[in-house]
Amino acid sequence: MKTIAVIGAGTMGNGIAHVFARFGYNVTLIDVSAPQLEKALQTIKKNLGRQVEKGVITTAQQEASIKKISTSTSMAEGIKEADLVVEAATENAALKMKIFRELDELAPTNAILATNTSSISITRIASSTKRPEKVIGMHFMNPVPVMKLVEIINGYATDSAVTESIVELTRNIEKVPCVVNDYPGFIANRILMPMINEAIFSYYEGVAGIEEIDTVMKLGMAHPMGPLQLADFIGLDVCLAILRVMYEGFGNPKYAPCPLLVNMVTAGKLGVKSGEGFYVYEGGKAVVK
Ligand code: CAA
Repeated sequence: MKTIAVIGAGTMGNGIAHVFARFGYNVTLIDVSAPQLEKALQTIKKNLGRQVEKGVITTAQQEASIKKISTSTSMAEGIKEADLVVEAATENAALKMKIFRELDELAPTNAILATNTSSISITRIASSTKRPEKVIGMHFMNPVPVMKLVEIINGYATDSAVTESIVELTRNIEKVPCVVNDYPGFIANRILMPMINEAIFSYYEGVAGIEEIDTVMKLGMAHPMGPLQLADFIGLDVCLAILRVMYEGFGNPKYAPCPLLVNMVTAGKLGVKSGEGFYVYEGGKAVVK
């Protein structure tokens, strides 16, 4: 595997392009928006710069990584030589199915089509293609250059040879693969989201304040961020969407999202990206209102 196309130049897409380029793969980053592509390149340069400052990579490796990345606003152009396409577009089932229909038509016949979805069924996404055996989940964690895990999700029809090549690729970029099966939330979010939801319920019911809940989990359980700050970091809209996938997928009320989460998302309080969630974000710092 030499050439990798990444669809979507948001936070996850730029992080995924960053790591593949850093380990010598030719990367084409594709997005419908040219300004978004430019912004993503600047973010990648900044994050590679952080790694230079920390001594993780050299300046020469930083420059070589940047040279490995090209950008395109055309899907047809960007994926025509891809051995692997990693889709990291907005978390919307209809959009992902549309993208996969196009990828199936435009990508080389042997190309593997991976999705970075955090909860949408791989089997469902694969059903929009004529190559479901070559469709797989490759779920990176945010921030991608730092987090070691890649949750690899086998759809109902994924070929074991495809899984093996994605496992090998994950090891080549110095990340740790964990192969799981395709049920709502997979493993990462099936366990993470109920914890976040319970933290929101605890606040909603007045059991404790925002800082107290986060401090208990940070200092008591050695989590790097408390669950409410982590929810802000992930995006409250994303947390709500994942909980709804699990609630509907299992038909089990234990996954029902907290009404406070629903209200906050409706009010446009989405966390870090909107400047306010459980915390207010001032100059990059989380402050309690
Ligand atoms: N690129 C490169 N390096 C980065 C970076 C980036 N985007 N972001 C942070 N870093 C590096 C920093 O340079 C720093 O390096 P050193 O340890 O060598 O000094 C290190 O990461 C820690 O960063 P900071 O000192 O700035 O801040 P921090 O100590 O608070 O760590 C954090 C930040 C890594 C985000 C940490 O708070 C953390 O691990 N949080 C939890 C993250 C998490 O749980 N992610 C999963 C979210 S769920 C998900 O992604 C999937 C889903 O489906 C919802």
